[in-house]
Amino acid sequence: RYQAVIFDLDGVLCTTDRFHFEAWKQTAKEVQAPFDETINQRLRGVSRMESLEIILEGSPLSLSPDEKRRLAEEKNDRYRALLSQLTPADMEDGVRETLRSLRIAGLKLAVGSSSKNAGFILHQLQAEGLFDAVCDGNQITRSKPDPEVFLRAAELLGIPAGLCLVVEDAPAGLEAAKAGGMDCAVIGDAALPFAPDYHLGKLEELPSLIL
Ligand code: G6P
Ligand code: MG
Repeated sequence: RYQAVIFDLDGVLCTTDRFHFEAWKQTAKEVQAPFDETINQRLRGVSRMESLEIILEGSPLSLSPDEKRRLAEEKNDRYRALLSQLTPADMEDGVRETLRSLRIAGLKLAVGSSSKNAGFILHQLQAEGLFDAVCDGNQITRSKPDPEVFLRAAELLGIPAGLCLVVEDAPAGLEAAKAGGMDCAVIGDAALPFAPDYHLGKLEELPSLIL
C-alpha cells in the first residue's frame, strides 16, 4: 500500500550516530555539561546548532554566538574526521538487501536527513545510487520534528505524503513523519512520545511487514 519509503540516515542506514555521540562528548566536556545516552537521544534528528543548544542547557557557562559557532565547527571537524574512515562495509549487507527488496517490489526510495554531511556519508558508503532522491540538511530551513525534510523528499519522489512510509530511530523523526501525514516505522529502543505505526528491532524486518 505504500509507494515510497523515506529513510533517516544517521542511526537507520548506518551507525554514524555513534560518531555524533563521540564528537559531542568532547564539546560537553569543554562546556562542563553532563552528557549521556539520554541527552544524546534528544540530539538525534535535530540540527547541529540546535543540538549544541541542548547540550548547553546543562552548562554553567554563557557563551557568545561566536563561541557557539566555534564549538559547533570544532564538533563538525571531529565528526568529519571520524566519517572519513567510513567505507562501503559500514553499510550492513542486511541494509543493502532490504533496500534491494523494497526497490524490486516497486517502491521508490529516498533519504530524509537533517544532516549537512549526508552527501559525504552516502559517498563514503558508495550508496548514492541506491536512492531515487536525497533530501538533507542543506535543503531545509527547519529540522525535525518539523516535517519539512520528509515533505520535500516526497515531493522530489513525486509521491503524495500519505503514500510514504518513514523509517526513523529518533523521537524527533517520528514526530516529523506524523506531522507530515506519513506513517512511521521506528528502529531501536528510544523513548518515544507516542507509538509508531511499526516498531522494528532491525531494518531487515521491514519488507515482511509492508510488502
Ligand atoms: C542527523 C543526526 C543529528 C545531527 C543532525 C545534523 O539528523 O541524527 O544528531 O545533529 O543530523 O548533522 P550535521 O552532520 O549537519 O551536523
Ligand atoms: Mg537518526
